[in-house]
Amino acid sequence: MSLFRKKSLDILLTQAADTEKGLKRTLGAGNLIALGIGAIIGAGLFVRTAAAAGEHAGPAVTLSFIVAAIGCAFAGLCYAEFASIIPIAGSAYTYAYATMGELVAWIIGWALILEYALGAATVSIAWSEFLNKLTGGSIPYEWCHSPFESALDANNVLHHGIINAPALLILILLTLLLIKGTQESAIVNSIIVILKVAIVIVFIAIGWSYIRPENHTPYLIPATAPDALQADGTMYSYKSFFNHGWGGVLKGAAIVFFAFIGFDAVSTAAQEAKNPKKDMPIGILGSLAICTVLYILFSWVLTGVAPFTDFVKAGKEASVAYAIETYMSKYMWLSKLITVGILAGFSSVILVMLMGQSRVFYTMSTDGLLPKVFSALHPKFRTPYKSNIILFVFVGLFAAFVPGSVAGDLTSIGTLLAFVLVCLGVLLLRRTDPHLQRPFKTPLVPLVPILGMLVCLAMIISLWGTTLLSAFLWMIIGLVIYFGYSRKRSKLGKFADVLPTADDFEAK
Ligand code: ALA
Repeated sequence: MSLFRKKSLDILLTQAADTEKGLKRTLGAGNLIALGIGAIIGAGLFVRTAAAAGEHAGPAVTLSFIVAAIGCAFAGLCYAEFASIIPIAGSAYTYAYATMGELVAWIIGWALILEYALGAATVSIAWSEFLNKLTGGSIPYEWCHSPFESALDANNVLHHGIINAPALLILILLTLLLIKGTQESAIVNSIIVILKVAIVIVFIAIGWSYIRPENHTPYLIPATAPDALQADGTMYSYKSFFNHGWGGVLKGAAIVFFAFIGFDAVSTAAQEAKNPKKDMPIGILGSLAICTVLYILFSWVLTGVAPFTDFVKAGKEASVAYAIETYMSKYMWLSKLITVGILAGFSSVILVMLMGQSRVFYTMSTDGLLPKVFSALHPKFRTPYKSNIILFVFVGLFAAFVPGSVAGDLTSIGTLLAFVLVCLGVLLLRRTDPHLQRPFKTPLVPLVPILGMLVCLAMIISLWGTTLLSAFLWMIIGLVIYFGYSRKRSKLGKFADVLPTADDFEAK
């Protein structure tokens, strides 16, 4: 049995067409763009922007956004080609299965768990920060932070986190909503998306007049920048390569890259799209373009209103509310309103992430690579409810006990890895299957996929250190599971060397 056995496009498309047995087709182009923006604007913008500015890029975080957007645009063009050819749930995993074979597909599927599951955990942690801000900090530090975090209070007493309870709360609520059904979730999502975009625009419009040019100068953090005080009373140094100058911009890009994650989640809903060939590219690229413009303006305003060093201490958590309350105090009321909107906005991100993850699991399970429980549909709601519940436990463990920055960086690495492989997939499929009908074609091949890979790899390298090591360990665990479990149970593997038809595939 070959590690590189591929699932034929014929099987994939037949499976996709067979919606009676599978998921319902209910989403149009508008829903898909909304789904994309719903997944895109979230903790990356409202929390990670401040982390990237405070610790690595300074005001030049706007450049970080541009670098990350370039990587995403190249990868997005590749995603759009695949999503238009293979309109089936499973995203990059599915594309890889058809083009690069089972092992690479497994690796991508495994990396996507970092993206979606840890992405949901990261955003639920950010949700907890903003909820705490809304309640005036009334949730005790211990109960809304991971055991790996600590901070000094106003009386200089050091507190250590125990568990992040609010993060768990939002996860369970959204898991229940997801089990109820995709269509209902999409309606809730559309309302939240409008709210979220409105918040970003209002913050940009009002904050613009509070920009102080001195906060934007110097634009790049100089190597000689003095150490900054952190929330736990220790000092933060800007000396290392990725903490100032252009190195800092690149690392900042890898961090704010998190803010773009989600446009690919649109592709996981391909099996639920009414007209996937036309609507998938519109959904993916449309949502990406809208968000890029908003992000650049937003980060320009945020770093103009508050000096970037604020974001290593008090302003590190719930940074937007912090900036308004500290520097735009006339708009205190707005801070509360925005915080409520942001809480709703984060909810829609978590929702799409959890949905994306359960759909990837669904497909991997129907392929035999994961146990059947991940594809069991609810008899009435037709959603993979058991998978949603298992996912809640997994995501919940991270949300409750891991700091947001760790979960966020791991999410970025997992996604960047998937992006690199998707770009590679487009190149390979153009060679192996040049005549395939491609309703949407990635322009300037091989230039665009190659540049996509390079930009994404540069961002991966900037996350050098424990994040990269943890991601590496995660991938090793994945390989052990593949060789110990999935490879033998793969439906495709059961056909050995004979080419299966779609019916054979279902029968197995
Ligand atoms: N892009 C999503 C966010 O920023 C994951 O929260």
